[in-house]
Amino acid sequence: MSLTDAEQAALLAQPLTLPCGLVLPNRLVKAAMEEVLGTLEGDPSERDFKLYEEWAKGDWGLVITGNVMVSPTHLGSPVDVRVPFPSSPTYSSSLQAYKRWSSASHGSNPSTAPPSIIQLCHSGRQSLRCSGRPFFQPSKAPSAVCMRAGEGWVGKVIGEIVWGTPEAMTEEEIWEVVEGFVQGARVAKETGWEGVQIHASHGYLIAQWLSPNVNLRTDDWGGSPRKRMRLLLEIVRAIRKEFPLESGFCVGVKLNSSDYVKGGLTEEDALDNVRWLAEAGGVDFIEISGGTYESPKMLQEDHETQAAMSSVTNNGTSTSSSSSKPKPSTMAREAFFLSFANRARSLLSSIPSYSLQSPAPLILLTGGFRTRPSMASALSPSSSSPPTPPATDLIGLGRPACSSPHLPLLLLDPSTPTHLARAPLYRHKVPKWLTWLPLPLWMPGWSTIFHTLLLAQISRGESPRWEMGLGEGLWSVWGVQLWRWAKGGVLGLVLALVVGIVAWWRA
Ligand SMILES: Cc1cc2nc3c(=O)[nH]c(=O)nc-3n(C[C@H](O)[C@H](O)[C@H](O)COP(=O)(O)O)c2cc1C
Repeated sequence: MSLTDAEQAALLAQPLTLPCGLVLPNRLVKAAMEEVLGTLEGDPSERDFKLYEEWAKGDWGLVITGNVMVSPTHLGSPVDVRVPFPSSPTYSSSLQAYKRWSSASHGSNPSTAPPSIIQLCHSGRQSLRCSGRPFFQPSKAPSAVCMRAGEGWVGKVIGEIVWGTPEAMTEEEIWEVVEGFVQGARVAKETGWEGVQIHASHGYLIAQWLSPNVNLRTDDWGGSPRKRMRLLLEIVRAIRKEFPLESGFCVGVKLNSSDYVKGGLTEEDALDNVRWLAEAGGVDFIEISGGTYESPKMLQEDHETQAAMSSVTNNGTSTSSSSSKPKPSTMAREAFFLSFANRARSLLSSIPSYSLQSPAPLILLTGGFRTRPSMASALSPSSSSPPTPPATDLIGLGRPACSSPHLPLLLLDPSTPTHLARAPLYRHKVPKWLTWLPLPLWMPGWSTIFHTLLLAQISRGESPRWEMGLGEGLWSVWGVQLWRWAKGGVLGLVLALVVGIVAWWRA
């Protein structure tokens, strides 16, 4: 049964109270996206503030920041924003920057201020060389298993050059990781954020810990699915010890539905993880995603764009599809991880509440959503008898929040007709040579870079221009930041040179 425009908008506009008591004004969540706009010292910058001021005007139900690194020696890339520690000489100025970031994210109108939380992350083996460490200093991970950039020896060699083989963490180093996440939560609380999200997906450290082919440990931190889960459970427990559920501080977790790599985390493992998180208690919501940078399913081209590509011009205007009704078959495929969300939701509903320490976590589903009908459908209970619960409680939007920072205003308005209630449809120009490379990372990598460039445009007070080419984007937006990469060491210098040459050549 199809829903009317008003019914769809009403589903999206429902407020939601999280287990910690935090009230979200609606169901649309700006998903975490690394902004790549921080200062040289790793603090959020004026450009971050401007970007978040824009999102604050968009009527989002919840804003999640891009990942903030809890270990200064394990940044994802040399330019990541990181959690400040009291031992740092610039601690108080860093806290000031976090306060300004939080004010920007809450906007100037207190009555429409979106709740905002910081995503905390440790990169583990996925930390590029020179990202907080010298080139030859290995990263730390559950076990000494190197990232691969693709199949065969090419992927292996590139993995070795770009990330290198990590060293297995000692017990002491593991507890330092836990403390890093707790410090991130302290900073969030002290500087005005409503909570944190723990990044346990996409191949970052906690996802490495959960993965049977990366965590080869045989001590108390590995060897069985339950022991591989220990790090995440200890982090949640440690944060909740300082900020209990009753304090109103939100703790979310982003989890993989599957790693989509041979020998990696499977859907069955992921369901166990959902159940254990619920049983341990203290988690407000679980965000469902999937994939790693070895198999980046979370950043695949959305199905609808793929289907409509042939009818879309490069300046984003559509010759047919975006103005016609989305096909039911396309809607069903729109959300990448919908079927897993359904399974997770059914599992959570089947756990008797008396066996849980705190209310079961809610579900946030992210990846692929583009149209209001499919978002509304994921939020509706099934019409079967007896009705099954909705697949998700919240809808996460990543790339649409880059191309349309105020998208919820459109989606929540019942007067927006269905065919216009959608994220912009565009085809970002893919440099042809990228398609020749036999590495799975390039295309999603390019999608990430492209959308980061849109964020940079918004941060400069411009409207996102999705028709721009690679050279123009890199030159106009990142040109001034290249020297920061160069400062990161040898690899940073090489990256800066490559980016600079490509930008100059294509501009
Ligand atoms: C530019 C960019 C940066 C991203 N950075 C993060 C990040 O810091 N943390 C995270 O959990 N996911 C990150 N993601 C993944 C998104 O949160 C989301 O899972 C993914 O884009 C799929 O959702 P979408 O189809 O709505 O874009 C990023 C995605 C993009 C495009």
